[in-house]
Amino acid sequence: MTSNSQLPTPHSPPSVSRTIALIGANGMLASAVKRVLPPGYQLMAYGLPDFDITNRSQVLALQDSAPDIILNCAAYTNVDGCETQHELAMQVNGEGPGLLAQLASEIDAVLVHVSTDFVFSGDKKEPYHEEDPTGPLSVYGQSKLLGEQRIIESGLKKYFIVRTSWLYGLGGNNFVETMIRLAKERTELKVVDDQWGTPTWTDDLAEAIFQLLTLGDTPHPSPLTPPSPYGVYHFSNEGECSWYQFAVEIIDQARKSESLKVENILPIPTEGYPLPAQRPKYSVMSKEKYKAATGRQVPEWRESLGKYFQERF
Ligand SMILES: NC(=O)c1ccc[n+]([C@@H]2O[C@H](COP(=O)([O-])OP(=O)(O)OC[C@H]3O[C@@H](n4cnc5c(N)ncnc54)[C@H](OP(=O)(O)O)[C@@H]3O)[C@@H](O)[C@H]2O)c1
Repeated sequence: MTSNSQLPTPHSPPSVSRTIALIGANGMLASAVKRVLPPGYQLMAYGLPDFDITNRSQVLALQDSAPDIILNCAAYTNVDGCETQHELAMQVNGEGPGLLAQLASEIDAVLVHVSTDFVFSGDKKEPYHEEDPTGPLSVYGQSKLLGEQRIIESGLKKYFIVRTSWLYGLGGNNFVETMIRLAKERTELKVVDDQWGTPTWTDDLAEAIFQLLTLGDTPHPSPLTPPSPYGVYHFSNEGECSWYQFAVEIIDQARKSESLKVENILPIPTEGYPLPAQRPKYSVMSKEKYKAATGRQVPEWRESLGKYFQERF
């Protein structure tokens, strides 16, 4: 029997208190997880320098604290740095998640792992679905895909792999903060206008992760989801834009509360701003699976940017 009344409510607390091992606890997304933590969850934080996801004995020692949930926010996220730090990228973004999957299997925990739109080539002209073929263009994308594969091939059943894109939020270096800094220093900004994607506010992603975890507590939550809610999901904000359009919106919204020097923002092609790592031209992701599974809507990217500015100032 199914009805909408059976869908999990936002942040409905787990029936018993559950412990989360938050891995990569000092990063930008992890800081949002701490901010939006719903009642009924207890966090145990693990991050560098004390805890290294690539250190097998450190990872497997988490068995002693026996978390119910392992939430992996750790990653080597310097996309261009990955091009010269191939081995480090593969260890942190690839093998590390595999170790976490092994740990989760041994203690029967749920693993939540965050991945990226950069696993796709960007050849499509319409939003990517979870089952679309991957084809990373960069070492970063390859290393994140390896992390997904290590989890899936580990045999672990209870995992959520959540691919996201263009992440910004409090507590991290990100495109929004870079644009604001440059807009205070320069009169003119040149921004790439031929790469399309969707910005994602960390707080929305953190809330979505808790929605998925609630789903894990609720067997058969919706007629549209298979019996097991686990697997790969896409989550970004709703809508799409180019980096140039994102920059224009950032500056428009920032101007309401900050004094900025910038007068012109110019659209340029990718070739006008060469970087070591190749990026997908189009990496918008469909959120239909997430929406069907959780019964939740996804905030539009401009609206979430506005909320970030309210939180930021
Ligand atoms: N940022 C984006 O635009 C974006 C887009 C799509 C997907 N994602 C994914 O979203 C997730 C969260 O990203 P984020 O933006 O929050 O990244 P972040 O701010 O760079 O946080 C990552 C954290 O992982 C830590 N870390 C690095 N190597 C580690 C290791 N060996 N062991 C333990 N911790 C380690 C980092 O520590 P240090 O800072 O000390 O190195 C940092 O605290 C990542 O999986 C990322 O791939 C991000």
